Amino acid sequence: MNDNSALICEIRTLLGGSPPKALVRSFGCQLNVSDGEKIKGLLEKIGYTFTENEDEADLIILNTCAVRESAEDRVFGIIGSMKKLKELKPSLIIGISGCMTAQAHNAEKIKKSYPQVSFVMGTSAISSLPALLLDSLRGVKFSADTSEYDDFSQSVPQVRDSSFKASVPIMFGCNNFCTYCIVPYVRGRERSRRSDDIIREVCGLVHDGYKEIMLLGQNVNSYGNDSDGEISFPQLLRKLNGIEGDFVIRFMSSHPKDASRELIDAILECDKVAKHLHLPLQSGSSSVLDRMNRRYTAEKYLETVDYIRSKDPDYSLTTDIIVGFPNETDEEFKDTLDIIRRVRYDNIYSFIYSKRSGTKAAAMADATPEDVKGRRMRELLEAQREISAEHYKRFIGRKLRVLVDDASKKHTGFLTGKSNEFIIVEFEGDTSLIGKFVEVEITEAMNWAVRGKLV
Ligand code: SAH
Ligand code: SF4
Ligand code: F3S
Repeated sequence: MNDNSALICEIRTLLGGSPPKALVRSFGCQLNVSDGEKIKGLLEKIGYTFTENEDEADLIILNTCAVRESAEDRVFGIIGSMKKLKELKPSLIIGISGCMTAQAHNAEKIKKSYPQVSFVMGTSAISSLPALLLDSLRGVKFSADTSEYDDFSQSVPQVRDSSFKASVPIMFGCNNFCTYCIVPYVRGRERSRRSDDIIREVCGLVHDGYKEIMLLGQNVNSYGNDSDGEISFPQLLRKLNGIEGDFVIRFMSSHPKDASRELIDAILECDKVAKHLHLPLQSGSSSVLDRMNRRYTAEKYLETVDYIRSKDPDYSLTTDIIVGFPNETDEEFKDTLDIIRRVRYDNIYSFIYSKRSGTKAAAMADATPEDVKGRRMRELLEAQREISAEHYKRFIGRKLRVLVDDASKKHTGFLTGKSNEFIIVEFEGDTSLIGKFVEVEITEAMNWAVRGKLV
């Protein structure tokens, strides 16, 4: 990272007076949220405090996602609504960061049509934030830095959103080029962090009392493939599992083409690794998977699931499904329904296909009407609701170890947390338990969570 201390000193002097307030809002995946924590870390160094209230903010940064059109539309709506705020408070600085800035057409649109925006900062240029801020404070109407500094290997300070759950990116970018996906275009090629840096960071977090460590990457299974002499992901898991302390290790996402037996043996043998695997299927039809360039077949995916379940029949699995990929037929969609009934996921995250310009799928003809895609989506959600409600019954009478997240927003007096299996658990208890592990005996299964009592 370029040494920013002189810039930071100058900004502090220009800002003067009482500490300025910043609002940083991250959209999209947890990697983007993690970048948002780094942006906050730099701002804190400069002297900013944080607010959730737009009206009192002196600086607003929208850390954007480009994965679906709806995500982009939402951000453009928010930027548009900020015109008024800027008119009422001309000193307000508005910055846009994240994946949308990496697409030339979006960066151009922001520059041309949204004069309320002061700067655009690319996904690999977080360390340029002080320089961009300085431009704005000196009255430059618009500045942009979308170069690739790869700050990832450096120690960018972080303001973490939680005091007991921490995300730790282990790699950045993606080499897979699934035909529907914009991520490889906006996040570049795979770059793995050094394993000793990761181990040191996790040791520090555990020492500071963090109870959940979430390892992040677009495809954690290919961790280390890009750097000579680095260990593999299963080896990294085994090393992290050896760190002393009471904590749980999670990771996201695993690409099924690289979900090797070596990985599955490691997750089953490491006592600190959660008994849950998020294994994005996308489609249950091998022909759709081929058109998606996923590089596995439905049969190969099921072999992986069968291997896990042969070792632990109750093992918790979740997945991502795309409905309405170009020219998905009723038959192909039925294959997806069949496979989710066969696998019995605890939860699925489903999305209607969204055309992303620049990707291969964007050039594919698509004759499926939107209402057919909508109907398929409803069918899928209904099927999964039944599966979850039925499948969650396996927990009744069992004791689950739960990391308490928060007070329940729906039911007063109740707390909510996630079990080791990544199931939402509700139970009566005192808010002093938030951030701690507890044992809950499950008494009831719902279709989105389970309920129980503290033991
Ligand atoms: N690297 C992760 C996925 C990151 S994007 C992985 O491969 O699992 C998260 C999810 O968004 C994907 O799994 C996919 O289901 C969905 N997604 C990505 N591009 C999409 C698009 N163009 N339309 C709809 N859903 C999409
Ligand atoms: Fe996108 Fe595929 Fe990479 Fe996941 S693995 S980020 S879906 S290209
Ligand atoms: Fe979205 Fe970028 Fe993540 S496109 S899903 S924020 S990597």
